[in-house]
Amino acid sequence: MSATSWPNPDAPLKDHAELGDRARAVLAANDTGAMVTAAPNLYPHMWSWDAAFVAAGLSTISVPRALAELAHLLGAQWESGMIPHIVFSEAPGYFPGVDRWRTEGVSPPGVKSSGICQPPVHATLLRRIVERATARGGEAARLAEDFARQSVPQWIRWHGWLRSARAGDGSGLVTIYHGWESGMDNSPRFDGPYSRVQPGDLEPFVRTDTRIVEDASQRPSDEEYARYLWLVQQMADAAFDDARLPGVVDFQVKDVFASAALATANEDLAVLAERHGHAGEAPRLREWAEEFREGVDSTVDPETGLARDRDVLTGEWIDPPTIAGFAPLISTADRALRERQSALIDGPDWTGDPRLAFPLPASTSTTYGDLRPRQYWRGPVWPVMNWYLATALRRHGDEGRYAAWRQASLAQLMEGHFGEYYEPFTGEPLGSWNQSWTAAVALEWLDDAEPGG
Ligand code: SER
Repeated sequence: MSATSWPNPDAPLKDHAELGDRARAVLAANDTGAMVTAAPNLYPHMWSWDAAFVAAGLSTISVPRALAELAHLLGAQWESGMIPHIVFSEAPGYFPGVDRWRTEGVSPPGVKSSGICQPPVHATLLRRIVERATARGGEAARLAEDFARQSVPQWIRWHGWLRSARAGDGSGLVTIYHGWESGMDNSPRFDGPYSRVQPGDLEPFVRTDTRIVEDASQRPSDEEYARYLWLVQQMADAAFDDARLPGVVDFQVKDVFASAALATANEDLAVLAERHGHAGEAPRLREWAEEFREGVDSTVDPETGLARDRDVLTGEWIDPPTIAGFAPLISTADRALRERQSALIDGPDWTGDPRLAFPLPASTSTTYGDLRPRQYWRGPVWPVMNWYLATALRRHGDEGRYAAWRQASLAQLMEGHFGEYYEPFTGEPLGSWNQSWTAAVALEWLDDAEPGG
């Protein structure tokens, strides 16, 4: 297993075969049998979007194990259709745990979950897994295709919930009620909306994350955590009732990245539905895809060319230049917009910044005034994000950028710790090491063929 210090005394790893072996060992070590936890100590449970990426990585090893991961997540789906952002294992030590969420009675019987969601990347990754299995043939293909047939209705309920409970205004943009729902917890995207969240009578709390990541400056601050927990308290007090949330929660943002993920996931779900026994559902899924694609395109700032979130409570656009600004690269059908964004991401504020250790996009533009290169979503490079965006570029025919990002990503990962995120200028692995989704995308990069063509 990997070394415990950085620079890794064994770095770079010998070759890609060794990288693959280590990535498989990380996933095996994090596998409880019921779930592959997001990371060994910091995140000893299943996270919704992590699980989707992890399942894709697992499918390079074992299709049945990959499907079991998604089945476990689907087992936690709420009556409403919502898929919770955390499915808890029995492991102690994570805060906030299920007690703080107070979801008992709202979540399905026997399931311990949080009460909020995460970006809907699942159908996109399920399509990838099924296509990989079909290409392999035999038992793997049969199992994956059966799983698709059985689970498509559940994924439709998930997308349908997002559309009705979170985008019922017809904007084609998903509302989030917590930065955690974006998956990019403390991104500067949310500085404005969080500045208006003033915790009231907050139940006392003790963080555990900063005990595990010893350098607390790599994590969100205590002030930020108080706001995070205040929002949890507001939603728990409203019993996570979708109809009540707009009236009670102090944070409401139209999330452009989640909306782009949903647009493309609707396309992927339409393809799965057509191929695996639910063809009648495909037209409405394509309509949903179009609705969210248009929603995302409508947020682009004509001046900067970046897509923007919007603060629902003030009506203001959100300006900081973050990776979410490239949401149209995931979803848009507008060729001129795609070309503009592609040129931007190559430029000096992003992968063209000559100071970078590797030419990969950081979570926040490296020329942003308040860049914090070591702090979570305020600057570091996230391997999972680069892989997700690169595969989106490739889908739209951009083999060149895909190949360049693949090469840079593999070079970054050869340091061998599978960091949760990386310092953009030094390549230092940060946050949690042996992070499952980082290992998963290493396996995906190595298994380079595009499943299904
Ligand atoms: N990402 C959050 C954390 O850091 C929870 O979703 O714990």
